[in-house]
Amino acid sequence: MNTARTLSRRSFLMGAAAIAPLSLLLAGCSNDEEEAAPAQAAPEQAETATDDSSAADAAPAGGNVLVAYYSAQGHTEAVAQTIADELGADLFEVTPAEPYSDDDLNWTDDNSRVTQEHEDESLRDVELEQVTPDGWEDYDTVLVGYPIWWGIAAWPIDNFISGNDWNGKTVIPFCTSSSSGLGQSGELLAEAAGGGNWQEGQRFSSSADESEIRDWVSGLGLA
Ligand SMILES: Cc1cc2nc3c(=O)[nH]c(=O)nc-3n(C[C@H](O)[C@H](O)[C@H](O)COP(=O)(O)O)c2cc1C
Repeated sequence: MNTARTLSRRSFLMGAAAIAPLSLLLAGCSNDEEEAAPAQAAPEQAETATDDSSAADAAPAGGNVLVAYYSAQGHTEAVAQTIADELGADLFEVTPAEPYSDDDLNWTDDNSRVTQEHEDESLRDVELEQVTPDGWEDYDTVLVGYPIWWGIAAWPIDNFISGNDWNGKTVIPFCTSSSSGLGQSGELLAEAAGGGNWQEGQRFSSSADESEIRDWVSGLGLA
């Protein structure tokens, strides 16, 4: 229903608004200008998403797996590619119709696109080239990747989340950041999705090495 979607999106925005000052507060502890680097939370292991109740099935525990991600500067993309490679999963890139240039991403510039969107939530409704991946209904497990922006999931992922039906899917969020943890980003996206069995997820540093990513993936029990 539209109403449900509207409500969940509103709650999401309220939730994001609620934690934004916290991230600014944390960032402010170290440096006035360093808004984008709140204190880092300890990475936590995602819960294993197994659903292997059907007996004689040779299919992997995670079923058909998709790795969907948004990446502005390539770090999340690299992590997504390693995850997909490890799982033999399909990849889907969430692409803004108007991609972010380096100038757009300059969070130290008060007039940059990203700073203006951060300050005015009504500007965060980012149009996407494609909202629903091909064959969406066939995926049982979706890993959702994004960078952290000001302590929350980078908002170009929002219309991908709110525009798809997550019911019946296991969802595992992951993010990259300079120093922030996953924080509440997964919970906020789960709320916006309005469905799906959302797991705890994982944060990687922007420069995470492949072995760390592969270790995490093998612990998910999806392969
Ligand atoms: C607008 C903006 C805001 C950011 N905010 C944070 C932040 O709050 N905490 C943090 O640790 N890193 C922050 N970063 C750093 C990114 O999360 C990090 O570089 C990430 O790996 C980028 O992923 P990507 O290359 O896939 O876009 C920010 C970066 C940008 C461009």
